[in-house]
Amino acid sequence: MSKPLTLSDKILKRMRPARLVRKDPVGGQAGLALLRYEPLDGQPVFPDGRFKAGQYCYLAVQVEGRWLNRLYSIASAPCQRHHLELYIVLVENGAVTPTLFAQPIGAEVLYMGPAGKFTLEKTERPDLCLIATGTGLAPYVSMLRQLRHELRAGGGASRPRRITLFEGVRYARDLGYHSLLREMEQEGELDLVYIPTVSRPERDEGFNASLGRGRVNHLVRAVLGDEAIEARVPPALPYGLDAETLRARLHPETTAVYLCGNPGMIAELQQFLGARGYDQILTEDYW
Ligand SMILES: Cc1cc2nc3c(=O)[nH]c(=O)nc-3n(C[C@H](O)[C@H](O)[C@H](O)COP(=O)(O)OP(=O)(O)OC[C@H]3O[C@@H](n4cnc5c(N)ncnc54)[C@H](O)[C@@H]3O)c2cc1C
Ligand SMILES: NC(=O)c1ccc[n+]([C@@H]2O[C@H](COP(=O)([O-])OP(=O)(O)OC[C@H]3O[C@@H](n4cnc5c(N)ncnc54)[C@H](OP(=O)(O)O)[C@@H]3O)[C@@H](O)[C@H]2O)c1
Repeated sequence: MSKPLTLSDKILKRMRPARLVRKDPVGGQAGLALLRYEPLDGQPVFPDGRFKAGQYCYLAVQVEGRWLNRLYSIASAPCQRHHLELYIVLVENGAVTPTLFAQPIGAEVLYMGPAGKFTLEKTERPDLCLIATGTGLAPYVSMLRQLRHELRAGGGASRPRRITLFEGVRYARDLGYHSLLREMEQEGELDLVYIPTVSRPERDEGFNASLGRGRVNHLVRAVLGDEAIEARVPPALPYGLDAETLRARLHPETTAVYLCGNPGMIAELQQFLGARGYDQILTEDYW
């Protein structure tokens, strides 16, 4: 008689094996990377139609003989059917990320999903305000990739949207997907304004005037006219952008706000934006 299945055995049996095929460090750092996986069986990552941009997956790795599971937003888009791209930061004392980062190309993991409701299907509103800290950018990269794909395919699956993306990081080198997002903004197919902001500019050799200053929550509040911000680094927009132009893209009644990443940022903006009349706020806390 075979050994009875424990719950985790049951879950493991439902997960699919995939192989690490690419590891791209962000800003030359060993602890911040785009990790790309492909299913071992060569089939699409998810059955067609299941995955909506903005969702996450479960990823399991073996750590000292035990399979451990964590959730990761998917940065690749549904149109990228044959790989799974994740944007992950190394948590030095974490249980899982040190193993993920130590794995060589070819290493096997298990994954399952997709799951989550942090998707564009949740709103009909024409204006999107996407706000992230750190790797909380991942779901927005997926959304933008998919919107661009749908526009190019001309299938009309997506409504025209005005998108304002705020990304907050500590240093310029932490800006994952910076070139892709600038390219998407400049090519003009999507109506996108991309506002990266750096919270430690005084210690940052990579800082320049094309980047905002201050924590992303402080910058958003400043754009929306809050004059009572107490911040170590006073918020300032990138050169060439002005608050009035941005406010015109972010009327409370036409805008859906998405908040992803650091729970402190999310809690503060949820409260601030709620008080300003924003009544569609979707959140994805990473811890
Ligand atoms: C829905 C969802 C989606 C997520 N997507 C991503 C993602 O796309 N990329 C990603 O890097 N992480 C993501 N996370 C976090 C991820 O699940 C793990 O918690 C993280 O990788 C740490 O795992 P660990 O075992 O190494 O650390 P643990 O031993 O679990 O320690 C967790 C601690 O690490 C810190 N921490 C966790 N995640 C982050 C982070 N992203 N940035 C900074 N500090 C963090 C927090 O202080 C937390 O208490 C997501 C979490 C959720 C709930
Ligand atoms: N080894 C590597 O290569 C590497 C690379 C990147 C990150 N890391 C480590 O990974 C961890 C996570 O770093 P991260 O930069 O991805 O994420 P993070 O620490 O969450 O910082 C991202 C942004 O969120 C801001 N922030 C932090 N707490 C906040 C709060 N309560 N409310 C609003 N904003 C807040 C930060 O501002 P502040 O600057 O004011 O804190 C920063 O602008 C850190 O421990 C970091 O040292 C390692």
